[in-house]
Amino acid sequence: MITPRLEMIIKHVRGKKIADIGTDHAYIPIYLIENSLAGYVIASDINKGPLLIAGDNIKNHNLTEKIETRLGGGLSVLKENEADTIIIAGMGGILISEIIDADIEIAKKSNLILQPMNAQYELRKYLLSHGFKITNEDIAVEGFKVYNLIEAASGEQQPFENDFEYHVPHYLTSHKYFKNLYNKKHREFTKVIKGLENSNEPDTEKLNQYKNWLKELKKYEG
Ligand SMILES: C[S@@+](CC[C@H](N)C(=O)[O-])C[C@H]1O[C@@H](n2cnc3c(N)ncnc32)[C@H](O)[C@@H]1O
Repeated sequence: MITPRLEMIIKHVRGKKIADIGTDHAYIPIYLIENSLAGYVIASDINKGPLLIAGDNIKNHNLTEKIETRLGGGLSVLKENEADTIIIAGMGGILISEIIDADIEIAKKSNLILQPMNAQYELRKYLLSHGFKITNEDIAVEGFKVYNLIEAASGEQQPFENDFEYHVPHYLTSHKYFKNLYNKKHREFTKVIKGLENSNEPDTEKLNQYKNWLKELKKYEG
């Protein structure tokens, strides 16, 4: 089933040869091929179970000629220049940065479509400090859930001027779902602040950092 989150990912995919790392049920590769959005997809997963399900789904859709499954962790399943676009979606932002870092030369040869479920701040920091530029971002909404997508490629980008921007880059403030992102970040910052304020030995540095981020966020209230 193609949800708004998957739809967002698919909308950003371009290229003849795509790799979907952590493919799970292979929904993304199947959709890409059936809708002529990709010529060939390498669908990989670190776990045998999901890859077996992916393989069954691919067979049921008669797509074994166009979608190849590979078992393995991260980008280790790829050779340099094998995929023009690499999708890493539905995982934590820190895991995504670790996957990129483990095979950075392979990552730098492709466009990256990253869909972190959390730790977007850390992922943006990682990208900009390791020779990647962020080329595009997007937001999808499913009920109360808000999903980020980050496109990146090898290149230089100046660090963001304000640390808060690693949470909410200025260009997202004009996105049609910015209000949803605003509310999510407001909830996140407020929860951390309350937790720290209620703790017996609050980490004052962390508390001040979160208070400052909340203050920066509130500039976009309304
Ligand atoms: C939550 S699913 C996301 C599936 C799909 N990409 C999506 O966005 O809907 C995460 C998948 O990533 C796989 N995975 C986790 N760590 C991985 C890694 N280091 N390399 C490859 N696959 C990984 C898991 O086995 C699981 O099937």
